Amino acid sequence: MVSPRTMAMMFSIALAVGALAASESSNKAVSSTAGGSIIPTGISSTTSAVSATLASSFTSAASSSATKPPTEASRSTLPISYYSFTPFPTPAQSAVSGGFPSSDPKNPPPVHSDLKIIPNFAPAWAVAYKKAKAKIANFTLEEKVNVTTGVGWMGGRCAGNIAAIEPIDGRGWPGLCLENSPLGVSPVDYATVFPAGINAAATWNRRLMRLRGLLIGREHVGKGVNVALGPMMNMGRQAQGGRNWEGFGADPFLSGEAAYETILGLQSAGVQACAKHYINNDQEHNRTTSSSDVDDRTQHEIYAQPFLRSVMAGLTSVMCSYNLINDTYACENDKMLNDVLKREFGFQGYVMSDWDATMSTLSAIAGLDMTMPGGIGLDVGDVGTSSSYFGGNLTAFVNNGTIPLSRIDDMATRILAGWYFLGQDAPSYPQVNFNIWNPYDDSTNGRVDVQDDHYKVVREIGAASTVLLKNDRGALPLKKPRSLVLIGNDAGPGRAGPNQFQDQGGSDGTLAVGWGSGSGDFTYLITPLEAIQARARQHRTSVSWLLDNFDLPMAGNVAIRQSAALVFINSDSGEGYITVNGNEGDRKNLTAWHGGDALVLAVAAQNNNTIVIVHSVGPLIVEPWIEHPNVTAVLWAGLPGSESGYSITEVLYGDWNPSGRLPYTIARNASDYPAHLVFGGDSTDIVKINYTEGLLIDYRHFDAKHIHPRFEFGFGLSYTSFHYTDMMISKMFDFARVQCDEISNWEAGNSTRITEGSSTALWLHEPAYRVTFSVENTGKVYGGDIPQLYVNFPPSSGEPPSVLKGFINVEVNPGQKVSVTITLSRHDLSIWDVADQGWRKPQGNIRLEIGASSRDIRLRGMLP
Ligand code: BGC
Repeated sequence: MVSPRTMAMMFSIALAVGALAASESSNKAVSSTAGGSIIPTGISSTTSAVSATLASSFTSAASSSATKPPTEASRSTLPISYYSFTPFPTPAQSAVSGGFPSSDPKNPPPVHSDLKIIPNFAPAWAVAYKKAKAKIANFTLEEKVNVTTGVGWMGGRCAGNIAAIEPIDGRGWPGLCLENSPLGVSPVDYATVFPAGINAAATWNRRLMRLRGLLIGREHVGKGVNVALGPMMNMGRQAQGGRNWEGFGADPFLSGEAAYETILGLQSAGVQACAKHYINNDQEHNRTTSSSDVDDRTQHEIYAQPFLRSVMAGLTSVMCSYNLINDTYACENDKMLNDVLKREFGFQGYVMSDWDATMSTLSAIAGLDMTMPGGIGLDVGDVGTSSSYFGGNLTAFVNNGTIPLSRIDDMATRILAGWYFLGQDAPSYPQVNFNIWNPYDDSTNGRVDVQDDHYKVVREIGAASTVLLKNDRGALPLKKPRSLVLIGNDAGPGRAGPNQFQDQGGSDGTLAVGWGSGSGDFTYLITPLEAIQARARQHRTSVSWLLDNFDLPMAGNVAIRQSAALVFINSDSGEGYITVNGNEGDRKNLTAWHGGDALVLAVAAQNNNTIVIVHSVGPLIVEPWIEHPNVTAVLWAGLPGSESGYSITEVLYGDWNPSGRLPYTIARNASDYPAHLVFGGDSTDIVKINYTEGLLIDYRHFDAKHIHPRFEFGFGLSYTSFHYTDMMISKMFDFARVQCDEISNWEAGNSTRITEGSSTALWLHEPAYRVTFSVENTGKVYGGDIPQLYVNFPPSSGEPPSVLKGFINVEVNPGQKVSVTITLSRHDLSIWDVADQGWRKPQGNIRLEIGASSRDIRLRGMLP
């Protein structure tokens, strides 16, 4: 959780900058490019009408300050206006047996194997909307506004709180508790710290992604949380991005699938998920004072993809981010909120602001439904007229005719619909039983233990996300070694336990999570030293250690004549409100922390079986030692959560045959990456972050520019070997038999038309092509493999050389050969046409590749 002090500092900066942004507001709001304009391109008739009214009424309304509540001008980048609001209609589609069943979010279709089942949540939303509308029918305006406005910083027991509506005349409603984090309920006691999002991605295993979501969801429900503030799905655009580890890596398809499964898991437990941070909040520096300038195609194909998949998972809430997008703040960005998210994706849930990311009352017009934590800046508990953009100001804007009541109805309905959608109206739904602001107060902390046996899944995901990068001379798995030495502070406990630094802002022991609001307080943390000793005892192995990284002579000495020397190194990062050793959230470089490179070299100089284990938030430059002949093996363990030691032990000893794959590229030089952190500007500047690399994020850039990475995206070794054969590609029977015109239109190479929910339509996402092939385990041990499907679009499409569009995990016995299928949807085979504002199949031949990584392609074929 963000500590009150650090948040105060953060917010006062944001406030100062916002004031400046407001003074420039008029040109920005009306003249910016796609993503920033209040008049979206390719708009529907509904949106056009709104925008036309906005534009025409801008001049007169903006100058009529007499009708403006006092706070409006302070940070807004929006013009003031009058408009009539019409909510977007619910996307209408019907259930189709087998492929598109009407689904209850508490009971979604199982994780797919061969046949992708696309859940249809529309009927469940319709029921929830009906209940929500009936509920607010008797609410007063103030009560509806209450539903949209947090109670203010520290105003309740949770990170964010919506106050209850008093039970007068049957109107009562218990309010909402919104709590961090994407890897578990935090900061509370008796809860589990799961592996970070980046580890979920590194498993490339949908079953484990779903299960992780489910168990995190159960813990939130058990604590009485209504909205879990995750998953986080910003892309790993810059390798140094401080919060990359909270998310799912550097590929939109992998991130999208991880987001989809995580949300299905979370919501099936009954908690509302919150997809964050929408959108382009990809670095921590200047996060409240930077504009991410992204072209429309890149936005659709890369950065919005995980959010699109989240909507398809029945997502109930989205958190808009701190930054600006093409010169307009994310939380008042009509293009991204109304036009893309609510209209094109057909999102039926609600948008909440990141904490103090609301910039104006008029954000409500641009699509913001809820302001969090409620006040402007660090107002504790008071969201009256002058201290919240919503609250009293929103009421005043309705009363003076600036914002129509129909919009407030829509906001409150969306919020209540999310609550009904997941059955949180059930009397049995747990009450909030913790207090993050006063954890030692027994009267508000019920100490409810929600951990169950979740440690087993934490351990499994920790093992399944570990990537074997190098394994020479059969160094791994360990075979009853005579002796082992563990070297490096990352092998052992921190000096004062696993929670010695507030919000995990620092570490001097093993690294199992990054820092910030996305982190967690450990109930316990099993270190590698503890787990390896326990395992080594079975073989009577002698174990010694050195947890000091800087005594290099001793590190060399203790390594001499040991059967293997295990060197543990790490690299940390987190949210920008905490700076650790000069790393202001983002990493200041891509080298190992605590002198890790020198430590590896000192040990490798003395021991010819040096095995390096890396706990890292993201890529590191490993060039100083990767080719050292005495470095026989490297395991990339990411941030495995509370069972860290057990997870790595299972992989080291071969109890788990490594099946993790890199969710990003590890480069040879930091400068090889396509995008870098942008610094500069003083607190009054809006810094420009130009996404000039466009579609060439991560491996797409290395491929296009012929740059050799050290370890490519999708790479990972196993203790066995796999052989792929018999690739067959076929067009599938259109089982849904809906929207046939759209299908023929697409097949003819025409773009889709934007309507409500057009980008999440069944015909676009149903399986359309089937790729079948065989995977044979040609080695000696049982193991899991992750065959990956890459699409090579024709050069005229403007796509990168190769893009991930499918993966599957398969477990095979030695000598066994299994047939597997990966399906492709029309959406997987489409590009976003900016001129047409629609998805289109590019003209020309489309080639499909099956590989063991993005560069280890084993089978090729052509789309029929
Ligand atoms: C973070 C969010 C978080 C919120 C509430 C913000 O600073 O960006 O991810 O959920 O605080 O703690």
